[in-house]
Amino acid sequence: MQHHRYDVIVVGAGGSGLMASLYAAKNKNVSVAVISKLYPTRSHTGAAQGGVGAALGNVSEDHWEWHMYDTVKGGDYLADQDAAEIFAKDIIDAVYELEHMGLPFSRLPNGKIAQRKFGGHTKEFGKAAVERACYAVDRTGHMILQTLYQQNVKAGTTFFNEFQVLDLIIEDGVCRGVVAYEISTGEVHVFQAKSVVLAAGGYGRVFKITSNALSLTGDLMSIYYRKGLPLEDLEFYQFHPTGIAKLGILITEGARGEGGILRNDSGERFMERYAPSIKDLAPRDIVSRAIYMELREGRGAGKDKDYLLLDLTHLPRDVIEGRLPDITDFSRTYLGVDPVTAPVPIQPTAHYAMGGIPTTVDGECLANSSTTVRGLYAAGEVACVSLHGANRLGTNSLGDLIVFGKRAGIAAARYAQDAQFEDLPARADGAALDEIERLKSGHGTENAARIRKELQETMMDNVSIYRTDETMSRQVEILKELQARYRNVSVTDTSTKYNTELMEAMELGYMLDVAEAMTASALNRKESRGAHAREDFPDRDDENWLKHTMAYRDLSRPGEVNIGYKNVVLGKFEPKPRVY
Ligand code: FUM
Repeated sequence: MQHHRYDVIVVGAGGSGLMASLYAAKNKNVSVAVISKLYPTRSHTGAAQGGVGAALGNVSEDHWEWHMYDTVKGGDYLADQDAAEIFAKDIIDAVYELEHMGLPFSRLPNGKIAQRKFGGHTKEFGKAAVERACYAVDRTGHMILQTLYQQNVKAGTTFFNEFQVLDLIIEDGVCRGVVAYEISTGEVHVFQAKSVVLAAGGYGRVFKITSNALSLTGDLMSIYYRKGLPLEDLEFYQFHPTGIAKLGILITEGARGEGGILRNDSGERFMERYAPSIKDLAPRDIVSRAIYMELREGRGAGKDKDYLLLDLTHLPRDVIEGRLPDITDFSRTYLGVDPVTAPVPIQPTAHYAMGGIPTTVDGECLANSSTTVRGLYAAGEVACVSLHGANRLGTNSLGDLIVFGKRAGIAAARYAQDAQFEDLPARADGAALDEIERLKSGHGTENAARIRKELQETMMDNVSIYRTDETMSRQVEILKELQARYRNVSVTDTSTKYNTELMEAMELGYMLDVAEAMTASALNRKESRGAHAREDFPDRDDENWLKHTMAYRDLSRPGEVNIGYKNVVLGKFEPKPRVY
């Protein structure tokens, strides 16, 4: 076992992790290291395409209050308004800061940062769509990632790349470090720390069709949940309306921001029926439900009528190829369809977790609705600062990880500066070693890939865009069975170097846990709100359900989940019916 000591450890090297490490490293009293499952610039932030929303007003008038309002309304009033206010104000300076770090934003003819329209972003509190997404063609996330990585290199941040975190060391309510597996050698390392920032992204891989990278398997959420700590609002999972049909690869909403139109098989612009005012630029939950309905009612395209069409053919070639080069390429490469001349087959794709590890606005992880785990912070998609409520607006994830990644990094460094290293428990790596041993030397007859396929297919069928008591109850039973079968998994590859079979088996364990918490949370919430659409409870019910879910694993009864609640932070925007 190898032992390391850093004041601040950041887990994850996407946008939130790199913002956290950069701002922690600015505190010269602390040492900072980042542990990442991937090489940093391969992190999933790099797949974010269309832009980062900030009320710069470069194209038309805009204000942070309008952005805050859109965020709260887009989140179906479950967003915490203290977080939404901090966010809408701070993201403006943060975008300029990224510009000054060297991020190559697309430009307007006057040299200012270019901005375009995106779903749910409006002017004057909902009157019309506004250009708020600051973009670098359709590679905005990629550019953020490269910029932040370069800044971290400059700041001297230490990186441990291709290390899979296997456990958090938490004793007496204090986080003391993490245990990680070095993928290239098979060695287990213990990282002692005064504070730890969790920033390793989401868990879209529990679904069959997803825009998420293979690495997004909910690892840190599961590790947190396994300790009896809560996961917040997991029932709210976003389907992005435009994934490439059958593959799920993202086609940015920026395509509709540039004027793209969704059509059904007869060429109808069907969003006119579902969101008469902002049509194709309605928030994602509304557009994804509309697509689902069109398909269900037989208006899909293709021989199996199982996809719809994103039509860009009325746009000039230079707009398509110039402002949307990646998705133009993806469409040509994966579908053989040229968006300049033909509409692109699309279907909703599992994209983003609104819920996650509950945090304060400074990223402190919550052990329940009011107590924090000392020394432990989280930011980005793995976290739930409750900015996005029940449905995130496009572009607000990049904004979230910049604003709240920075706040978490600053807070973690400040905490570490005043804290002492706490003793580690004997065999801090014990649970991780035991799990590796179980998978490698067991005689289990189950195969991880088979269980993963069943998990992904059944989650897609039963806890998807629409849910009912019947589908979710069925999924609860399926997950219990899959969990039981998982305990009988063993791997055939017992080697130490780059043992991907072992990694994938461990990741399956994480996915099963997060799916369990998600399904239980969704079954429990008897209303429809944002991305949680129940056919058996079609209305929003503020009287009973304007509250956050906190799902805890019942450590004494395997497979059982205890549900608690946390108040929503209300503010100047009173809950109203959501009309677009
Ligand atoms: O459509 C997109 O470009 C995705 C952006 C987002 O999820 O914020």
